[in-house]
Amino acid sequence: MTVFGLKEGLRTQIIDLGNGLIMRWSTRDDANNVGELLAEAFQWEPVGPPPPPGETPGPNEVVRASGRRLLRGNSAVMSEYDYALVENTRAAAGENPIVACACLHAVPGYYGSVRLQFGKPEGIATHPNYRNQGLVRRLLEDMIHPASDDRGDLVQFILGLPHFYLQFGYTYALRTGEQRTVLPDLALIPKASSNVSELFTLRTVTLDDIAYLVRMSTPDKLHRPTTEIGLVFDEAYWRFTTHDVYQTKQSMYDASRQTRIVVDSTGKDVGVTVTSFRGHWQIDLFVLEDTVSYHQALFPVLRQLVLMAKGRYDYPGMPEGESLIDSLILGLGSHHPASKLLESSTMPENTDRLYTRIASYPRFIRHVAPVLEERLARSALAGVSGAIELNFFRRVAGASGAGLRIVLDQGKLVEVEDWVAPSSREWMLKRLKGSPGGPRVYGAQFAPLSFTRLLVGEINVGQMLEQYGETGLKDAETRMLLDVLFPKVEHHIESLWW
Ligand SMILES: CC(C)(COP(=O)(O)OP(=O)(O)OC[C@H]1O[C@@H](n2cnc3c(N)ncnc32)[C@H](O)[C@@H]1OP(=O)(O)O)[C@@H](O)C(=O)NCCC(=O)NCCS
Repeated sequence: MTVFGLKEGLRTQIIDLGNGLIMRWSTRDDANNVGELLAEAFQWEPVGPPPPPGETPGPNEVVRASGRRLLRGNSAVMSEYDYALVENTRAAAGENPIVACACLHAVPGYYGSVRLQFGKPEGIATHPNYRNQGLVRRLLEDMIHPASDDRGDLVQFILGLPHFYLQFGYTYALRTGEQRTVLPDLALIPKASSNVSELFTLRTVTLDDIAYLVRMSTPDKLHRPTTEIGLVFDEAYWRFTTHDVYQTKQSMYDASRQTRIVVDSTGKDVGVTVTSFRGHWQIDLFVLEDTVSYHQALFPVLRQLVLMAKGRYDYPGMPEGESLIDSLILGLGSHHPASKLLESSTMPENTDRLYTRIASYPRFIRHVAPVLEERLARSALAGVSGAIELNFFRRVAGASGAGLRIVLDQGKLVEVEDWVAPSSREWMLKRLKGSPGGPRVYGAQFAPLSFTRLLVGEINVGQMLEQYGETGLKDAETRMLLDVLFPKVEHHIESLWW
């Protein structure tokens, strides 16, 4: 199969790590061994439902199912050749030869009006006997990042262990989304009146619904008016998560995402819901046709979602009155009508920060130049010319340069290159020589990698000044220009449990 720009085919790269260990890419034949490694590595991690009270957790079946699912060859985000593996070629008979693994997803997204592809490392684990030997570092630095950069991913992101990925060229910058809220007690959802059937019901999805799902999940439909960076829910996403995944489902732990169509009392399709369970139950998407009132549909829909989730996720033999589905996270954003309707019963919760790696600022900026030019054209600085020179002090892992130079000509970005700031001596001698002419220079300095946060609009220039002592701006006009180019914006990067 072809996933985005990636051609089908076995990747032949092999790297010898010594002591019988090699790094190589996967085939479908590795599915069970990768599943086994993940199940063992995540035994003690809080992913998936907790074990019944008093029971020691066994191998993690939810994560085993994910690894096997990803290597089935029908995923919307990777082919069966996209898992980077460390294999112990001296493994004894019956011993799992796969001792570490990391895979690479390709996820379509947007930055303003421009489409781009995100690379997403996922399913990362090392067998307990092989930890702290730098295996994940080698998998990321020698396999995953080069493969992702080479195929043109402009950004990589991961949701993961706090502080772990900062070692590998990532910084916290993208966010899953704007504010989540928690409904702490499902008893806050009013009961339906007896003997009256619900005004809205939910039905399962068929392949004929894919076009409807694509139409109902565009950014403007999702009630996120200030979102500028997000993921695209395209046909491949819907086809896989609502159909293909069930065709090849292997266990009750497989396919944790539930999509339903909302149907009104006349039998007409009027909306979509997506919920998932990842240790907590969350509503990821809820959208209705413009003609339908959230006020009328919200509680009928929630009541049926609760019934569905309890039936799906509660394990057999659960003690009477207990349920894993006892609260609900609304991952819909504060502008969503459902968030507003439930505002008095819910508590705000932080959204997740995502590790973000932009390997080359020039490559990224050249790609999103139309968005930056649109921002300039709408501003008081429309038509500006000059050079923006940004000093990042030194080149660090995860960055392509120690600085950046952007040349603007009448509001257009005509050059974007890595740049090295002149030394103090060069600077002073230049000043002594007097003004050499040339373009107006807008100069600024930012701590290494911190510019990623400004570039993706997680924080604005004022917040950069507050949060990083190294931030410096040449003058007020530089600040104005950077404020125009890099405003704070909202993100909607779902962590997508494929
Ligand atoms: C986290 C995990 C993948 C690390 O694999 P690894 O091959 O041991 O990692 P590396 O050897 O490449 O990196 C080790 C470095 O990371 C640090 N590190 C290891 N586990 C860490 C953790 N849980 N949190 C933060 N840092 C961690 C080590 O201290 C070490 O740093 P050092 O070199 O300065 O001593 C492995 O412990 C594991 O499989 N854990 C369970 C599954 C999991 O949590 N996967 C990641 C999900 S996002």
